[in-house]
This record gives sequence, C-alpha cells and structure tokens, in this order.
Amino acid sequence: MPDIRCIGIATGGGDAPGLNAVIRAATKAAILKYGWKVIGIVDGFDGLIWPDKAIELTLQSVSGILPRGGTILGTTNRGNPFCYKAVEGGKEVTRDISDQVVANARQLGIDAIITIGGDGSQAISFELYQKGLNLVGVPKTIDNDLSATDITFGFDTALHTVSDAIDKIHTTAASHHRVMVVEVMGRDCGWIALEAGLAGGAHVILIPEIPFTIEGVCRHIAARERNGKRFTIVVVAEGVKSPMEFMEKRRMSSIGNVLGDAIAKGANKEVRVSVLGHIQRGGTPSPFDRILATRFGVAAVELIAAGGFGRMVCLKGERVESVEIKTAIGHLKTVDPNGELVRTARAVGIGFGE
Ligand code: F6P
Repeated sequence: MPDIRCIGIATGGGDAPGLNAVIRAATKAAILKYGWKVIGIVDGFDGLIWPDKAIELTLQSVSGILPRGGTILGTTNRGNPFCYKAVEGGKEVTRDISDQVVANARQLGIDAIITIGGDGSQAISFELYQKGLNLVGVPKTIDNDLSATDITFGFDTALHTVSDAIDKIHTTAASHHRVMVVEVMGRDCGWIALEAGLAGGAHVILIPEIPFTIEGVCRHIAARERNGKRFTIVVVAEGVKSPMEFMEKRRMSSIGNVLGDAIAKGANKEVRVSVLGHIQRGGTPSPFDRILATRFGVAAVELIAAGGFGRMVCLKGERVESVEIKTAIGHLKTVDPNGELVRTARAVGIGFGE
C-alpha cells in the first residue's frame, strides 16, 4: 500500500453539475477514513503552475457544496502543461512546462492527485502520470460520450434541463402552429438530443451519428401537417453533420439558426429557434448525479489507497469499477443508429431527417 499523507484534487475542462459533489465526497472520505490532508488545485492544471494559489480542503470548506453546480475549484478547458500558451516579448509562444508542474505538485507535498475531467483532461492526466505523478481519474462530461463508463455525472441533470425546456417550448409551438428548433449540446455525439428529445416528446431529432437532409426534415413536418398536427419540435445536437449547403452559413451562425432558416424556406412554416447553450451545464445536480458523483469521489480515494495510479473510476452496470486511463482515452461512445433507443424513437414516430 502506498504511503499517502496528502492528496490533491483538480477539476478540468467544461464544468458539469456534480463536480462539487465529487470534491466533497473525495475530501470527506480522505479525511474521515484515512486522515489525509486534502489540497484543492485551482483552475485545472493551471493551478499547478501557480502552486501558491492552492487551497486546503477541509470538512468545513466542502460543507454545503453538494447541491451547487459548477466547481468551487475553478476550471479551464485551455490549460495543458504540455503545450502551455504564454505571451513572451509581445508574442504568443507554446511551452512544455510539465516538468515544472510535476515539481510543483511535489513541492506542495501532494502524494497523489484526483483529476476530474473529460477525455482531454484525462489525456493530460495520463501524460503527467507517465512523468511520475500518482494520478487517478474521475470521468466527467454532460455529453455522456466517454466509452469507458456507462454514464457520466452531469448528463442526467442536463437531460432534466433540456426536457423541461422542450416541455415549455411545446406550448408555444402548439399555440402558434410553429416549427420550433431546439439546439442542444453534444459536440461529437447525440446523447443529449436523443434522450432529451425522447423525454420531451420531440418530433424530429438530428444527431451527429445519423446524416440528415432538409428535405427529410420538411417531409416529416409535411406528414405531421397532413395528420392535423400543425406544429413540430425539432431537437438538433450542436455537433450534427451539416448538409453541404450549410457549411459556409454555419461558420457565421449556430446550427440551430441555420437549420431554422432552411426549414422556414423548405416547409413554408413559421419557425423559431432556441439555442439552449450553457444553461445545460448549470444548475443543481439531480439526485442521480449527486449519488454517482459521490460514489466516484469515494471510489477515487479508495483507488489511491490501493495504489491504483494511472486508473480512472467508471460505472459498469450497477458497479463502480476502474479502468486504465490509457485505454479509456480517445474512445467516444456514440449513439448506435440501429440501436434500441433509436428504434424506440422511430417506433413512436420520431424522424431523424433522413
Ligand atoms: O463537452 C461538453 C460541452 O458542454 C460540449 O457539449 C460543448 O460543445 C462544449 O462543452 C462547450 O464548451 P465551452 O464551455 O468551451 O463553450
């Protein structure tokens, strides 16, 4: 068993509801079960560039943070110590400052670090682990697109936010006989669009995994009109693959707006667009996310106690387990276009714009 006296905790990448629940759980387990000191590294790996900004996490400092969104430690999705951007002599330069980061962690007396982050942050964690830092990972993304874990915390809360928005949009869609386009997050995968679309009763769902055409979307709208349904809700994932004619316009505007214009022309309908944006990452975590985040925080501490460095906690079925970070990174969990969820959606009349 490793000789651990002090651990660090860092949050990296975009925030997600449940980050504070992980910080709280890991801090409590480390102090109450093992008597370790806990140091909060601020603003992701950037915090190891300026170690004097680190803060001690105590039972008092994590008290009351369970229901809070965001991260009390701060985060960034730019800080990479292997290609750190700095301005020198008026010019932007890129430097590898990873040796300094490892040395700073040691100077802080940190024996092991828990990094809570998505694929990008875990890739950096793995490189730092290879440089000799004792690291364990906790997966995080509202997109739920990491293949190493069945679910990431934050996703469930985002689903609540988006399905609530779709419910509200339903009433104006029906009252005004409009097409309502709802753009949701999902940079590479369509999990939020698909699951929130199902939960919110959307009529068309557009995801990166299923190519669509405007004609396909308009055909679906026209079929609904023929059946007396004079409104349609289209949920689109931000990462959807655009038809060729969209490429140029998409650089200027969000996919939701570009799509809305095209549908208005193609279906000859009044269209309104809601881009939900970062509200999907905010708010108090759902009970499911609080519980999963707490389980992950405690499991990360147990992993350190057992010397399981270079590993990341994950959910497999009902159980919290761990996998090697090196095998976990770089593998997206995409929606299966022929899978049960998509087949269920099709069975209840949802179109995918084909
Ligand atoms: O990966 C999570 C995510 O929320 C994506 O869905 C989205 O594209 C991205 O982060 C947005 O990041 P930023 O906060 O930098 O705008």
